[in-house]
Amino acid sequence: MVQVSRHDIVIVGGGGAGLRAAIAAAEANPDLSIALVSKVYPMRSHTVSAEGGAAAIARDDDNLELHGFDTVKGSDFLGDQNVIEYFVENAPRELALLENWGCPWSRNDDGSVATRAFGGMSTKRTWYATDKVGFHMLHALFQHSMRFDNIVRYDEFFVTKLLVEGGTCQGVSALEIRTGEFHAILGRSVILATGGAGKIFPFTTNGTIKTGDGMALAYRAGVALKDMEFVQYHPTGLPGTGILITEAARGEGGYLRNNKDERFLVEYDYGVGDKAELGPRDMVSRAIIQEFEAGRGFENQYGSYCVVDLRHLGEEHINAKLPFVRELAKTYIGVDPVHEYIPIRPVVHYMMGGVDTDINAATELPGLYAAGEVACASLNGANRLGSNSLTECLVFGAVAGRNAIDFAKGVDEGDQSRLVAQTEEEAARVGALRGNGTGSEKISSLRLEMNSAMEAGCGVYRMQDTMATAAVATRSIRQRAADLHLRDSSRVFNTEIVSALELMNMVELAEVLSVSAADRKESRGAHTCRDYPTRDDENYLYHTLAHRTEDGPRLGRKEVKLGHWVPQERKY
Ligand code: FUM
Repeated sequence: MVQVSRHDIVIVGGGGAGLRAAIAAAEANPDLSIALVSKVYPMRSHTVSAEGGAAAIARDDDNLELHGFDTVKGSDFLGDQNVIEYFVENAPRELALLENWGCPWSRNDDGSVATRAFGGMSTKRTWYATDKVGFHMLHALFQHSMRFDNIVRYDEFFVTKLLVEGGTCQGVSALEIRTGEFHAILGRSVILATGGAGKIFPFTTNGTIKTGDGMALAYRAGVALKDMEFVQYHPTGLPGTGILITEAARGEGGYLRNNKDERFLVEYDYGVGDKAELGPRDMVSRAIIQEFEAGRGFENQYGSYCVVDLRHLGEEHINAKLPFVRELAKTYIGVDPVHEYIPIRPVVHYMMGGVDTDINAATELPGLYAAGEVACASLNGANRLGSNSLTECLVFGAVAGRNAIDFAKGVDEGDQSRLVAQTEEEAARVGALRGNGTGSEKISSLRLEMNSAMEAGCGVYRMQDTMATAAVATRSIRQRAADLHLRDSSRVFNTEIVSALELMNMVELAEVLSVSAADRKESRGAHTCRDYPTRDDENYLYHTLAHRTEDGPRLGRKEVKLGHWVPQERKY
């Protein structure tokens, strides 16, 4: 028996983008009802783990042109310039708004907003609240959202399908994790804000929940995924766990060192001189891998690593600006950065690609919007600049909320019986999977195989044959994931069924990612092919689109929206 509820808009995801969208929609019209559906309690969304800060101009030596150009150049000229212009213009307002809602941005002595340096930015542009920015931002958004009675929360509901009727998106089917019951949560428009898919890789800063659910929902509903080949490695994750050591550690003056104790980044020719640690993430990650390959990495049970050196900053500065870095290093690897080096290696951090959206956060499916990491509005192109993404959640979360409300005003409620029938089919499908002992594949084995295929084929450095091998492997893993062996037939908090559904989402995306990567025969931003080492604007200055077919992704192309920033060699 399916439970049915009706709202005006349905938002999937309760992190930064989802909450911002909900607030924008609730403010736009207090009479409308907004469902906020999340597989976790909102304060456990991955936004909470962001550390270093959020970008927006704040200083006299900064301006919109500079923030825009840094972002375009960081994207290796694959970002859409209309989207970038809109983003930089709206960024300061969004961060100021957040302070009004309670986010305690750190301040300079004169009372102005404090900003710190981040990689690839020409000036200090990253607003911060020590190094616990995600926690403070999410807290402010969540608390503020509670002021609106018209935001109705569905915490710990796992969305399994977008409900599409008559060519428009009209709600979602969701499994209530606590009870095992199925719900048809209906609305006249839907926003995806479910974050990225870092968990398809083995070493990642991403939390367990980042399994690409929203991307897979849209892909199955016929919406294109865009630019999935572009995966950001963050240069400094802890080996083993992948826990983030924020870029703020370098922004505050930390050094990277190799096993010769050399500050090796000064030797790399990306042109930032003595600010070597402040190169963009793709370039710094490649430099670290080159150190490993030259035998200048340290080794432990997790492979090669380098170190972050903060000792020269002193205890007072570390405690004032990087208290969380100190806490993480002490807790998870038993080193105190006041006196010791922190081991690090590049780890998967962010997907530049995602659900194809335009500047209005709209997808090709009428009624479906997306914002935050799940979406690819083409703000980040081939490489995102650190600290642009938290602001992106706010700017495009608000856009999605407002536009979804506008869309909802113009359409009638769909045929409820057909939407409920779709949800009944979902309940039957998931019910048949629950505790199904007849399958032959283990969730954990397939997950490990997927992780290894992605690391081997689509890492920091790629080769045509490694990507092609990953594409073949991930296709087979996707097919095998239809034959899972499950053991738990209980309905209440059945985490095995949730893991199975997450795996089915991830294997779709792993295949799209590797197929898209193998098709781009150039190096651009985070996509570095050893056999095609240069950028090729003549043949590859376009976005990759991937539509789902039973035989795997069907690739297409979309034009990059250029503007007054003309593509040039990317030098720092
Ligand atoms: O290093 C960091 O604090 C990460 C920031 C970001 O990805 O924007």
